[in-house]
Amino acid sequence: MKVVIPKETAVGETRVAGVPDTVAKMTAAGVGVWVQEDAGIAANFATSDYENSGAKVTDHLEELYQGANVVLRVQPPTLSEIASIPSGAVVISMIYAVRNAELLQQLAAAGITTFAMELIPRISRAQSMDVLSSQASIAGYKAVLLGASRLDKILPMQMTAAGTLAPARVFVLGAGVAGLQAIATARRLGAVVEAFDVRSAVREEVESLGAKFVNVPLESAEGTGGYAKEQSDEQLQRQRELLEEKVTSADIVITTAAIPGRKAPLLLTGEMMRAMRVGSVVVDLAADTGGNCEVTVPGEEVNFNGVTVVGTNDLPRTVPHHASQTYARNLTNLVLSLVRDGALVVDLEDEVVRTICVTHEGVVRYGK
Ligand SMILES: NC(=O)c1ccc[n+]([C@@H]2O[C@H](COP(=O)([O-])OP(=O)(O)OC[C@H]3O[C@@H](n4cnc5c(N)ncnc54)[C@H](O)[C@@H]3O)[C@@H](O)[C@H]2O)c1
Repeated sequence: MKVVIPKETAVGETRVAGVPDTVAKMTAAGVGVWVQEDAGIAANFATSDYENSGAKVTDHLEELYQGANVVLRVQPPTLSEIASIPSGAVVISMIYAVRNAELLQQLAAAGITTFAMELIPRISRAQSMDVLSSQASIAGYKAVLLGASRLDKILPMQMTAAGTLAPARVFVLGAGVAGLQAIATARRLGAVVEAFDVRSAVREEVESLGAKFVNVPLESAEGTGGYAKEQSDEQLQRQRELLEEKVTSADIVITTAAIPGRKAPLLLTGEMMRAMRVGSVVVDLAADTGGNCEVTVPGEEVNFNGVTVVGTNDLPRTVPHHASQTYARNLTNLVLSLVRDGALVVDLEDEVVRTICVTHEGVVRYGK
């Protein structure tokens, strides 16, 4: 069985879908791994480390893809990359299937089986394959560092001969994977942290990290699979009114609220932000899906009435070494769980495979 790890070509992508550690794991399991020259360079994984882990490294695309059974990627392949992949191979990557119907058609037409990593089901057996969690956790951590670096205050309380500095106040909206990591990081840096989530089930987790769960008389909105369910405009309006005081008294607001497959809920209006202290910071991790904050510009940092608003969805790319390590481990755990007698078996009876397999045997399965 031949597994291929190409160099990512998407603009700004610094991660790689295989690292020397995961290559060693696969070769130890009898899987042949081929890595494109410089595939890990942006994440500081040297070619020699891949070779020492048992990979064959090449910069010839034909040689790389010849006879490939599995292709591991971070970003979906482009049309020309699809043309290089042999029919019958399995591509395992982020596919963003919900917004990439044409790409799915192209992959199916090329006879490629595609596993969309963003669709890994949230069941215990698949936790070690959950790329959304591994990358969200890194994003939550980095969001706090980013917010702290833009703030005109320090985060911890300081008692010095020059007097006492009060700790900064951080308010985290959405206490899922990214939010919980943001809470933990902000606490470690010494901030006073408060958080809110529409799933009241997370209260205990928030409190166990040393933050205060904001008590407001809102109905809990638990959906399925650990996710939140969408709220009505009236419910969101009520949430904004109830949380306005928390937002406006915070030095850093980190928003991570999301509903799978939907536009992000609007939690901070421009009007609310006018009441924020000049110098405070909003880091909006939902920027890519419409933003939790009305004035967010995806991928940009804007100044709104003296409040810095960072709209970002790319934070894992800013720590590519660790982000690649966890992403690659997720993929390797999936691959090794599917290898039988030296070949990757696409068993559609398996819940994980059935959920992530978006193209197979010339057909688009996604949404069917
Ligand atoms: N394998 C597993 O069992 C597994 C793996 C990962 C996560 N999970 C569960 O799924 C949960 C959510 O995961 P996620 O972080 O990927 O979710 P997500 O990225 O879809 O959403 C982030 C958070 O935003 C919250 N949210 C939505 N609307 C909101 C609003 N109006 N106001 C405030 N918050 C709002 C959600 O409840 C969620 O906690 C986790 O906390 C965990 O319980 C389970």
